[in-house]
Amino acid sequence: MIRTNASFPKKFLWGASTAAHQVEGGNHNQWSVWELENARALAMKAEYHISDLNKWDHIKDIARQPDNYVSGKAVDHYNRYKEDFDLLKKLHMNAFRFSVEWSRIEPEEGVWSAEAIEHYRQYIMELKKRDIEPVMTLFHFTLPVWFSDMGGFEKRRNVKYFERFAEKVAHELGPGVRYIVTINEPNVYLEQSYLEGSWPPAKQNKIVAWRVLENLAYAHKLAAAAIRDVSSDHLVSIAHSTTYTYAGDDSWLSSISASIMQYLSDDYFLKKIIKHCDYLGVNYYFSARVYGYRVHNPDEKQSDLGWDASPMNLQFALERLYDKYDKPILITENGIADMDDELRKWWISQSIVAMKLAMQRGVDLIGYLHWSLVDNFEWAYGKWPRFGLAAVNYKTMERRLRPSAKWFGAVIAKLRQ
Ligand code: FCB
Repeated sequence: MIRTNASFPKKFLWGASTAAHQVEGGNHNQWSVWELENARALAMKAEYHISDLNKWDHIKDIARQPDNYVSGKAVDHYNRYKEDFDLLKKLHMNAFRFSVEWSRIEPEEGVWSAEAIEHYRQYIMELKKRDIEPVMTLFHFTLPVWFSDMGGFEKRRNVKYFERFAEKVAHELGPGVRYIVTINEPNVYLEQSYLEGSWPPAKQNKIVAWRVLENLAYAHKLAAAAIRDVSSDHLVSIAHSTTYTYAGDDSWLSSISASIMQYLSDDYFLKKIIKHCDYLGVNYYFSARVYGYRVHNPDEKQSDLGWDASPMNLQFALERLYDKYDKPILITENGIADMDDELRKWWISQSIVAMKLAMQRGVDLIGYLHWSLVDNFEWAYGKWPRFGLAAVNYKTMERRLRPSAKWFGAVIAKLRQ
Protein backbone atom coordinates (compact mmCIF):
# COMPACT_ATOMS: atom_id res chain seq x y z
CA MET A 1 0.00 0.00 0.00
CA ILE A 2 1.47 3.31 -1.04
CA ARG A 3 1.40 6.15 1.43
CA THR A 4 0.20 9.18 -0.40
CA ASN A 5 1.94 11.64 1.91
CA ALA A 6 4.92 10.79 -0.26
CA SER A 7 8.05 12.76 -0.73
CA PHE A 8 7.51 13.49 -4.41
CA PRO A 9 8.15 17.14 -5.10
CA LYS A 10 5.41 19.30 -6.60
CA LYS A 11 7.29 19.71 -9.86
CA PHE A 12 7.89 15.96 -10.26
CA LEU A 13 7.07 14.84 -13.80
CA TRP A 14 4.46 12.09 -14.00
CA GLY A 15 3.92 10.93 -17.52
CA ALA A 16 4.09 8.36 -20.26
CA SER A 17 6.45 7.61 -23.09
CA THR A 18 6.18 6.63 -26.77
CA ALA A 19 8.33 6.53 -29.92
CA ALA A 20 7.26 7.70 -33.38
CA HIS A 21 7.63 4.46 -35.29
CA GLN A 22 5.89 2.40 -32.64
CA VAL A 23 2.70 4.43 -32.58
CA GLU A 24 2.40 6.91 -35.45
CA GLY A 25 1.72 4.65 -38.41
CA GLY A 26 2.50 5.43 -42.05
CA ASN A 27 6.26 5.76 -41.65
CA HIS A 28 8.77 5.06 -44.35
CA ASN A 29 12.21 4.46 -42.87
CA GLN A 30 14.86 1.74 -42.60
CA TRP A 31 12.62 -0.18 -40.19
CA SER A 32 9.48 -0.18 -42.35
CA VAL A 33 11.58 -1.42 -45.30
CA TRP A 34 13.07 -4.19 -43.15
CA GLU A 35 9.64 -5.20 -41.79
CA LEU A 36 8.30 -5.83 -45.28
CA GLU A 37 11.35 -7.90 -46.18
CA ASN A 38 11.30 -9.95 -42.97
CA ALA A 39 7.68 -10.33 -41.90
CA ARG A 40 7.22 -13.78 -43.41
CA ALA A 41 10.44 -15.09 -41.93
CA LEU A 42 9.58 -13.71 -38.48
CA ALA A 43 6.13 -15.31 -38.64
CA MET A 44 7.64 -18.65 -39.57
CA LYS A 45 10.27 -18.47 -36.86
CA ALA A 46 7.81 -17.54 -34.10
CA GLU A 47 7.13 -21.21 -33.33
CA TYR A 48 10.83 -21.75 -32.53
CA HIS A 49 11.65 -18.41 -31.01
CA ILE A 50 8.79 -17.59 -28.68
CA SER A 51 6.69 -20.71 -28.17
CA ASP A 52 8.16 -21.10 -24.67
CA LEU A 53 6.49 -17.87 -23.52
CA ASN A 54 3.74 -18.26 -20.91
CA LYS A 55 1.17 -16.66 -23.16
CA TRP A 56 2.04 -18.64 -26.28
CA ASP A 57 -1.41 -20.24 -26.52
CA HIS A 58 -2.99 -16.81 -26.57
CA ILE A 59 -0.64 -15.23 -29.04
CA LYS A 60 0.25 -18.04 -31.43
CA ASP A 61 -2.39 -17.16 -34.02
CA ILE A 62 -1.22 -13.57 -34.22
CA ALA A 63 2.47 -14.39 -33.90
CA ARG A 64 2.28 -16.76 -36.90
CA GLN A 65 0.82 -14.03 -39.13
CA PRO A 66 3.28 -11.93 -41.18
CA ASP A 67 0.94 -8.99 -40.67
CA ASN A 68 1.88 -8.85 -37.00
CA TYR A 69 5.42 -7.82 -37.97
CA VAL A 70 4.47 -4.90 -40.20
CA SER A 71 3.94 -1.63 -38.37
CA GLY A 72 1.59 -0.29 -41.06
CA LYS A 73 -0.84 2.08 -39.40
CA ALA A 74 0.50 1.15 -35.95
CA VAL A 75 -2.04 2.80 -33.61
CA ASP A 76 -2.54 5.78 -35.93
CA HIS A 77 -1.16 8.19 -33.36
CA TYR A 78 -0.06 10.51 -36.18
CA ASN A 79 -3.73 11.34 -36.69
CA ARG A 80 -5.10 10.62 -33.23
CA TYR A 81 -2.54 12.39 -31.08
CA LYS A 82 -5.03 14.84 -29.59
CA GLU A 83 -7.19 11.99 -28.38
CA ASP A 84 -4.07 10.40 -26.90
CA PHE A 85 -3.06 13.63 -25.16
CA ASP A 86 -6.52 13.74 -23.60
CA LEU A 87 -5.69 10.38 -22.06
CA LEU A 88 -2.70 11.99 -20.37
CA LYS A 89 -5.01 14.53 -18.83
CA LYS A 90 -7.40 11.81 -17.67
CA LEU A 91 -4.46 10.21 -15.92
CA HIS A 92 -3.52 13.52 -14.24
CA MET A 93 -0.14 13.42 -15.97
CA ASN A 94 2.06 16.44 -16.59
CA ALA A 95 4.72 15.05 -18.95
CA PHE A 96 4.96 13.11 -22.19
CA ARG A 97 7.87 11.64 -24.12
CA PHE A 98 7.70 11.18 -27.87
CA SER A 99 10.13 11.06 -30.76
CA VAL A 100 10.17 13.15 -33.90
CA GLU A 101 10.58 10.97 -36.96
CA TRP A 102 13.72 11.97 -38.86
CA SER A 103 12.49 10.29 -42.07
CA ARG A 104 9.41 12.53 -42.10
CA ILE A 105 11.31 15.74 -41.35
CA GLU A 106 14.16 15.09 -43.80
CA PRO A 107 12.75 12.60 -46.33
CA GLU A 108 15.64 13.21 -48.75
CA GLU A 109 19.12 14.28 -47.75
CA GLY A 110 19.08 18.04 -47.20
CA VAL A 111 15.37 18.37 -48.06
CA TRP A 112 13.19 19.48 -45.15
CA SER A 113 9.48 18.76 -45.08
CA ALA A 114 7.59 21.89 -44.06
CA GLU A 115 4.51 19.74 -43.59
CA ALA A 116 6.16 17.37 -41.12
CA ILE A 117 7.71 20.25 -39.19
CA GLU A 118 4.33 21.94 -38.98
CA HIS A 119 2.77 18.70 -37.79
CA TYR A 120 5.21 18.41 -34.90
CA ARG A 121 4.85 22.10 -34.12
CA GLN A 122 1.09 21.61 -33.70
CA TYR A 123 1.75 18.43 -31.78
CA ILE A 124 3.95 20.20 -29.23
CA MET A 125 1.47 23.06 -29.02
CA GLU A 126 -1.32 20.63 -28.15
CA LEU A 127 0.83 19.27 -25.33
CA LYS A 128 1.57 22.75 -24.00
CA LYS A 129 -2.13 23.64 -24.20
CA ARG A 130 -2.75 20.79 -21.81
CA ASP A 131 0.12 21.81 -19.48
CA ILE A 132 2.09 18.73 -20.41
CA GLU A 133 5.90 18.98 -20.34
CA PRO A 134 7.25 17.60 -23.64
CA VAL A 135 10.27 15.31 -23.59
CA MET A 136 11.47 15.05 -27.18
CA THR A 137 13.66 12.26 -28.60
CA LEU A 138 15.60 12.68 -31.84
CA PHE A 139 16.69 9.11 -32.66
CA HIS A 140 14.59 6.24 -31.37
CA PHE A 141 15.88 3.34 -33.51
CA THR A 142 14.51 4.59 -36.85
CA LEU A 143 16.53 6.28 -39.60
CA PRO A 144 15.70 7.77 -42.98
CA VAL A 145 16.39 5.25 -45.74
CA TRP A 146 18.89 7.61 -47.41
CA PHE A 147 20.90 7.78 -44.17
CA SER A 148 20.92 4.06 -43.55
CA ASP A 149 21.79 3.43 -47.23
CA MET A 150 24.92 5.51 -46.83
CA GLY A 151 25.94 3.34 -43.88
CA GLY A 152 24.07 5.03 -41.02
CA PHE A 153 26.08 5.38 -37.84
CA GLU A 154 28.65 2.85 -39.06
CA LYS A 155 30.49 5.71 -40.75
CA ARG A 156 32.08 8.54 -38.82
CA ARG A 157 31.54 10.96 -41.66
CA ASN A 158 27.75 10.42 -41.51
CA VAL A 159 27.45 11.79 -37.99
CA LYS A 160 27.32 15.32 -39.37
CA TYR A 161 23.87 14.58 -40.84
CA PHE A 162 22.53 13.75 -37.41
CA GLU A 163 24.12 16.89 -36.01
CA ARG A 164 22.42 18.93 -38.73
CA PHE A 165 19.08 17.24 -38.00
CA ALA A 166 19.46 17.99 -34.28
CA GLU A 167 20.16 21.61 -35.01
CA LYS A 168 17.20 21.89 -37.37
CA VAL A 169 14.83 20.33 -34.84
CA ALA A 170 16.12 22.53 -32.02
CA HIS A 171 15.61 25.53 -34.23
CA GLU A 172 12.15 24.67 -35.54
CA LEU A 173 10.64 22.75 -32.66
CA GLY A 174 12.88 23.58 -29.73
CA PRO A 175 11.16 26.66 -28.30
CA GLY A 176 9.11 25.48 -25.35
CA VAL A 177 10.75 22.06 -25.23
CA ARG A 178 13.08 21.80 -22.29
CA TYR A 179 14.00 18.12 -22.17
CA ILE A 180 15.64 16.67 -25.24
CA VAL A 181 16.85 13.08 -25.63
CA THR A 182 19.34 12.76 -28.48
CA ILE A 183 19.58 8.97 -28.73
CA ASN A 184 17.40 6.25 -27.29
CA GLU A 185 19.22 3.26 -25.79
CA PRO A 186 22.50 3.20 -27.73
CA ASN A 187 23.40 -0.10 -26.02
CA VAL A 188 20.16 -1.82 -27.07
CA TYR A 189 20.46 -0.54 -30.64
CA LEU A 190 23.96 -1.91 -30.77
CA GLU A 191 23.06 -5.27 -29.39
CA GLN A 192 19.96 -5.87 -31.51
CA SER A 193 21.16 -4.33 -34.75
CA TYR A 194 24.87 -5.21 -34.74
CA LEU A 195 25.50 -8.10 -32.34
CA GLU A 196 22.38 -10.28 -32.36
CA GLY A 197 21.35 -9.11 -35.78
CA SER A 198 17.65 -9.21 -34.94
CA TRP A 199 16.92 -5.60 -36.01
CA PRO A 200 17.97 -3.75 -39.14
CA PRO A 201 20.60 -3.71 -40.55
CA ALA A 202 20.75 -7.17 -38.94
CA LYS A 203 24.51 -7.48 -38.77
CA GLN A 204 26.51 -9.65 -36.41
CA ASN A 205 29.88 -8.02 -36.36
CA LYS A 206 31.72 -6.96 -33.22
CA ILE A 207 34.05 -4.58 -35.00
CA VAL A 208 31.24 -2.74 -36.76
CA ALA A 209 29.31 -2.72 -33.47
CA TRP A 210 32.22 -1.11 -31.68
CA ARG A 211 32.51 1.51 -34.43
CA VAL A 212 28.78 2.29 -34.19
CA LEU A 213 29.13 2.71 -30.43
CA GLU A 214 31.98 5.17 -30.83
CA ASN A 215 30.05 7.06 -33.49
CA LEU A 216 26.91 7.23 -31.35
CA ALA A 217 28.91 8.76 -28.51
CA TYR A 218 30.31 11.28 -30.98
CA ALA A 219 26.82 11.89 -32.40
CA HIS A 220 25.48 12.67 -28.94
CA LYS A 221 28.31 15.06 -28.27
CA LEU A 222 27.84 16.98 -31.53
CA ALA A 223 24.04 17.00 -31.29
CA ALA A 224 24.10 18.20 -27.66
CA ALA A 225 26.44 21.06 -28.61
CA ALA A 226 24.29 22.00 -31.63
CA ILE A 227 21.14 22.01 -29.51
CA ARG A 228 22.75 24.16 -26.81
CA ASP A 229 23.99 26.56 -29.46
CA VAL A 230 20.40 27.15 -30.51
CA SER A 231 19.31 27.79 -26.93
CA SER A 232 20.84 27.29 -23.54
CA ASP A 233 17.36 26.53 -22.14
CA HIS A 234 17.49 22.94 -23.33
CA LEU A 235 18.46 20.09 -21.06
CA VAL A 236 20.03 17.27 -23.03
CA SER A 237 20.66 13.58 -22.36
CA ILE A 238 20.41 10.16 -23.94
CA ALA A 239 17.86 7.60 -22.71
CA HIS A 240 20.02 4.85 -21.31
CA SER A 241 18.65 1.33 -20.86
CA THR A 242 19.95 -0.06 -17.61
CA THR A 243 19.80 -3.69 -16.54
CA TYR A 244 20.42 -3.92 -12.83
CA THR A 245 23.03 -6.69 -12.62
CA TYR A 246 23.74 -8.39 -9.31
CA ALA A 247 25.38 -11.52 -7.94
CA GLY A 248 22.95 -14.27 -6.94
CA ASP A 249 25.33 -15.77 -4.37
CA ASP A 250 28.40 -14.58 -2.52
CA SER A 251 30.95 -16.34 -4.66
CA TRP A 252 33.85 -14.36 -6.00
CA LEU A 253 33.09 -15.37 -9.59
CA SER A 254 29.45 -14.23 -9.46
CA SER A 255 30.34 -10.86 -8.07
CA ILE A 256 33.17 -10.23 -10.56
CA SER A 257 31.01 -11.36 -13.49
CA ALA A 258 28.12 -9.14 -12.38
CA SER A 259 30.43 -6.13 -12.15
CA ILE A 260 31.92 -6.75 -15.57
CA MET A 261 28.49 -7.19 -17.15
CA GLN A 262 27.25 -4.01 -15.48
CA TYR A 263 30.28 -2.12 -16.68
CA LEU A 264 29.90 -3.28 -20.27
CA SER A 265 26.19 -2.58 -20.50
CA ASP A 266 26.15 0.74 -18.58
CA ASP A 267 29.43 2.39 -17.88
CA TYR A 268 31.49 1.78 -20.98
CA PHE A 269 29.18 4.04 -22.98
CA LEU A 270 27.99 6.39 -20.24
CA LYS A 271 31.53 7.38 -19.35
CA LYS A 272 32.04 8.66 -22.88
CA ILE A 273 29.02 10.93 -22.93
CA ILE A 274 28.08 11.86 -19.38
CA LYS A 275 29.89 15.16 -19.39
CA HIS A 276 27.71 16.16 -22.34
CA CYS A 277 24.50 15.43 -20.43
CA ASP A 278 22.52 17.84 -18.24
CA TYR A 279 20.52 15.01 -16.72
CA LEU A 280 20.45 11.26 -17.24
CA GLY A 281 17.50 9.58 -18.95
CA VAL A 282 17.08 6.04 -17.61
CA ASN A 283 14.95 3.23 -19.02
CA TYR A 284 14.46 0.28 -16.70
CA TYR A 285 12.67 -2.99 -17.53
CA PHE A 286 14.57 -5.90 -15.97
CA SER A 287 17.46 -7.05 -13.86
CA ALA A 288 20.06 -9.77 -14.30
CA ARG A 289 20.89 -12.13 -11.45
CA VAL A 290 24.29 -13.69 -12.00
CA TYR A 291 25.48 -17.09 -10.83
CA GLY A 292 29.07 -17.79 -11.83
CA TYR A 293 29.27 -16.23 -15.25
CA ARG A 294 25.65 -16.89 -16.27
CA VAL A 295 22.44 -14.94 -15.82
CA HIS A 296 19.77 -16.94 -14.08
CA ASN A 297 16.79 -14.84 -13.10
CA PRO A 298 14.07 -15.75 -10.63
CA ASP A 299 11.09 -16.90 -12.69
CA GLU A 300 8.13 -16.40 -10.34
CA LYS A 301 7.19 -13.22 -12.11
CA GLN A 302 7.75 -12.52 -15.77
CA SER A 303 6.28 -10.23 -18.37
CA ASP A 304 4.48 -11.62 -21.41
CA LEU A 305 7.82 -11.28 -23.22
CA GLY A 306 9.49 -13.50 -20.61
CA TRP A 307 11.40 -10.56 -19.16
CA ASP A 308 12.36 -10.80 -15.48
CA ALA A 309 9.90 -8.68 -13.50
CA SER A 310 11.82 -7.12 -10.60
CA PRO A 311 10.40 -3.60 -10.36
CA MET A 312 11.88 -3.00 -6.90
CA ASN A 313 15.41 -3.18 -8.28
CA LEU A 314 14.71 0.18 -9.88
CA GLN A 315 15.74 1.62 -6.52
CA PHE A 316 19.23 0.08 -6.72
CA ALA A 317 19.61 0.95 -10.39
CA LEU A 318 18.82 4.59 -9.62
CA GLU A 319 21.12 4.70 -6.62
CA ARG A 320 23.99 3.17 -8.56
CA LEU A 321 23.66 5.53 -11.51
CA TYR A 322 23.22 8.58 -9.32
CA ASP A 323 26.20 7.74 -7.11
CA LYS A 324 28.38 7.15 -10.12
CA TYR A 325 27.36 9.99 -12.42
CA ASP A 326 25.92 12.62 -10.11
CA LYS A 327 23.29 13.85 -12.59
CA PRO A 328 19.59 14.38 -11.93
CA ILE A 329 17.73 11.35 -13.31
CA LEU A 330 14.60 11.27 -15.42
CA ILE A 331 13.04 7.83 -15.81
CA THR A 332 12.37 7.98 -19.52
CA GLU A 333 10.81 4.48 -19.75
CA ASN A 334 9.56 1.83 -17.35
CA GLY A 335 6.74 -0.64 -17.86
CA ILE A 336 5.68 -4.21 -18.55
CA ALA A 337 4.21 -6.24 -21.41
CA ASP A 338 1.06 -7.53 -19.75
CA MET A 339 -1.87 -8.22 -22.06
CA ASP A 340 -4.25 -9.29 -19.30
CA ASP A 341 -3.31 -6.40 -17.04
CA GLU A 342 -2.48 -8.83 -14.25
CA LEU A 343 0.87 -7.40 -13.14
CA ARG A 344 0.85 -3.76 -14.21
CA LYS A 345 -0.70 -2.34 -11.05
CA TRP A 346 1.74 -4.30 -8.91
CA TRP A 347 4.61 -3.26 -11.21
CA ILE A 348 3.76 0.44 -10.96
CA SER A 349 3.18 0.41 -7.21
CA GLN A 350 6.51 -1.34 -6.64
CA SER A 351 8.20 1.18 -8.92
CA ILE A 352 6.74 4.08 -6.97
CA VAL A 353 8.03 2.61 -3.72
CA ALA A 354 11.43 2.03 -5.33
CA MET A 355 11.57 5.67 -6.48
CA LYS A 356 10.57 6.92 -3.04
CA LEU A 357 13.27 4.90 -1.35
CA ALA A 358 15.88 6.05 -3.85
CA MET A 359 14.86 9.66 -3.30
CA GLN A 360 15.03 9.21 0.46
CA ARG A 361 18.59 8.04 -0.06
CA GLY A 362 19.36 11.25 -1.89
CA VAL A 363 18.76 10.46 -5.57
CA ASP A 364 17.73 13.60 -7.43
CA LEU A 365 14.80 12.28 -9.45
CA ILE A 366 13.05 14.53 -11.97
CA GLY A 367 10.20 12.29 -13.03
CA TYR A 368 8.74 8.99 -14.14
CA LEU A 369 7.51 8.30 -17.67
CA HIS A 370 5.67 5.00 -18.06
CA TRP A 371 6.12 2.92 -21.20
CA SER A 372 3.74 3.23 -22.86
CA LEU A 373 0.74 5.51 -23.05
CA VAL A 374 -0.99 3.30 -25.62
CA ASP A 375 -0.26 -0.17 -26.98
CA ASN A 376 2.56 -0.03 -29.48
CA PHE A 377 4.36 -1.85 -32.27
CA GLU A 378 7.05 -3.70 -30.34
CA TRP A 379 9.83 -3.88 -32.93
CA ALA A 380 10.72 -7.45 -34.01
CA TYR A 381 7.93 -8.90 -31.82
CA GLY A 382 5.32 -6.88 -33.68
CA LYS A 383 1.91 -5.98 -32.35
CA TRP A 384 1.02 -8.69 -29.86
CA PRO A 385 2.97 -7.41 -26.81
CA ARG A 386 0.79 -5.02 -24.86
CA PHE A 387 2.60 -2.28 -22.97
CA GLY A 388 -0.10 0.38 -23.04
CA LEU A 389 -1.76 2.12 -20.15
CA ALA A 390 -4.53 2.27 -22.73
CA ALA A 391 -5.42 -0.84 -24.69
CA VAL A 392 -5.83 -0.26 -28.42
CA ASN A 393 -8.16 -2.25 -30.60
CA TYR A 394 -6.09 -2.53 -33.80
CA LYS A 395 -9.22 -2.93 -35.94
CA THR A 396 -11.20 0.08 -34.72
CA MET A 397 -8.28 2.01 -33.20
CA GLU A 398 -10.41 2.55 -30.12
CA ARG A 399 -8.42 3.36 -26.97
CA ARG A 400 -9.53 2.08 -23.57
CA LEU A 401 -7.71 2.77 -20.32
CA ARG A 402 -6.79 -0.48 -18.60
CA PRO A 403 -7.90 -0.89 -14.95
CA SER A 404 -4.29 -0.51 -13.77
CA ALA A 405 -4.08 2.81 -15.62
CA LYS A 406 -7.21 4.14 -13.95
CA TRP A 407 -5.73 3.17 -10.61
CA PHE A 408 -2.40 4.81 -11.54
CA GLY A 409 -4.18 8.00 -12.60
CA ALA A 410 -5.87 8.22 -9.20
CA VAL A 411 -2.52 7.66 -7.45
CA ILE A 412 -0.89 10.42 -9.50
CA ALA A 413 -3.74 12.80 -8.63
CA LYS A 414 -3.06 12.17 -4.93
CA LEU A 415 0.70 12.37 -5.24
CA ARG A 416 0.45 15.69 -7.05
CA GLN A 417 -1.88 17.30 -4.49
C1 FCB B 1 12.77 -0.21 -24.95
C2 FCB B 1 12.57 0.67 -26.16
C3 FCB B 1 11.15 1.00 -26.46
C4 FCB B 1 10.21 -0.16 -26.19
C5 FCB B 1 10.48 -0.77 -24.83
C6 FCB B 1 9.57 -1.92 -24.47
O1 FCB B 1 13.96 -0.90 -25.07
O2 FCB B 1 13.24 1.90 -26.00
O3 FCB B 1 11.08 1.46 -27.78
O4 FCB B 1 10.29 -1.06 -27.21
O5 FCB B 1 11.80 -1.19 -24.76
